[in-house]
Amino acid sequence: MKKPISVAVVGCGIGRAHVKAYLELPERFALKVICDLDQEKAKSLAAASEVPEVCSSVGELCKRPDIEVIDLCTPPHLHFEQIQEVLHAGKHVICEKPLVASLEEADLLAEVERGSGRRIIPIFQYRFGHGLQKLKRLRAAGVTGEALVSTVETAWRRRSKYYEVPWRGNWSTELGGAVLGHAIHAHDMLYYILGPAKRVFCRTATRVNPIEVEDCASASLEMRNGSLATLSVTLGSSSEITRHRFCFSGMSAESNNAPYTNSKDPWTFTGDTPGKQQEIEEALKDFVPAPESFAGQFYRLYDAIQGEGEPPVSLADAREALELVTALYYSGETGGDVSLPITPEHPRYRSWIPAAFRSPERGRE
Ligand SMILES: NC(=O)c1ccc[n+]([C@@H]2O[C@H](COP(=O)([O-])OP(=O)(O)OC[C@H]3O[C@@H](n4cnc5c(N)ncnc54)[C@H](O)[C@@H]3O)[C@@H](O)[C@H]2O)c1
Repeated sequence: MKKPISVAVVGCGIGRAHVKAYLELPERFALKVICDLDQEKAKSLAAASEVPEVCSSVGELCKRPDIEVIDLCTPPHLHFEQIQEVLHAGKHVICEKPLVASLEEADLLAEVERGSGRRIIPIFQYRFGHGLQKLKRLRAAGVTGEALVSTVETAWRRRSKYYEVPWRGNWSTELGGAVLGHAIHAHDMLYYILGPAKRVFCRTATRVNPIEVEDCASASLEMRNGSLATLSVTLGSSSEITRHRFCFSGMSAESNNAPYTNSKDPWTFTGDTPGKQQEIEEALKDFVPAPESFAGQFYRLYDAIQGEGEPPVSLADAREALELVTALYYSGETGGDVSLPITPEHPRYRSWIPAAFRSPERGRE
């Protein structure tokens, strides 16, 4: 019999989806408090989801011995400080993307995590869709063959209303644009299947909305495994899609195009020969569907929080995603190729924000 872990959610934007997911897993999680600076939002979400308590600050939650996990769904520029506050209080922390504002901050958090005995669990809920999970299984079983070339399209639509929320659209508070805030999920899915890139070339542009950060990008990647990938990103697509297409030597894999759920079924897996098709079907015959999306991630991280095994998304995974972001932005800024890994000597290790938008205290040249 599992003992539910007591959790509090901070932030009632996307936090609403987290709340719903915890409520779907009552054997694993007991959602005790909803926290938001805006108490009206917190109270209405708590009432609608029958959560017993509300509060207005992470500090209040940190003082409560009965809360084991604090789940941060706050704006990006607050994450670095809030994650540390939670770890110092002896609690595990779940945190929305983008985790932090630089590779330096990610590395500092790794040190704090090691010393705390608690876990930092970044959110990448797209990983747990059944379509992507099936491809992961085919890859692990050696069915796919070598990766050849992949395409990832994130074509979403955001208009001026979206940017009425004051933290969006600016480098200082959103920390980046479509590459960082929107396509990061689709790019994490690419990494989840193929591993990291070793060289990237990127162009970014702001063409959809009058904002500071980019809302379009196009990139070419050479992956560490030798395959090639193309990324296309926009927030100006009238028809919204997210699409992944992977070509391997033995088969191709194509996602559905649903913009926010394309890692779910249906995916199309096409074997290069009738024999390979049979191998694919064999390998997927006993696929056991587990929960997807946020519930999928929370379901799988229960054991790690109990001290058994690794969480399904680690700080290292979030760091790799942010390393790709840093490389893409630096390529866009300089016009050249960028090689990975990005080490502390790199000019954008302390902040990926391009020089033209950076305040003087952020990062050296
Ligand atoms: N995983 C996903 O698919 C996904 C989707 C949307 C947003 N996000 C991420 O989630 C985070 C929040 O985004 P959002 O769109 O929900 O933003 P939002 O502005 O809609 O909601 C944030 C909430 O946090 C509250 N808040 C701000 N500062 C606070 C503080 N110090 N203490 C307590 N509450 C505070 C605000 O009052 C607000 O209600 C961002 O990092 C964003 O990138 C992730």
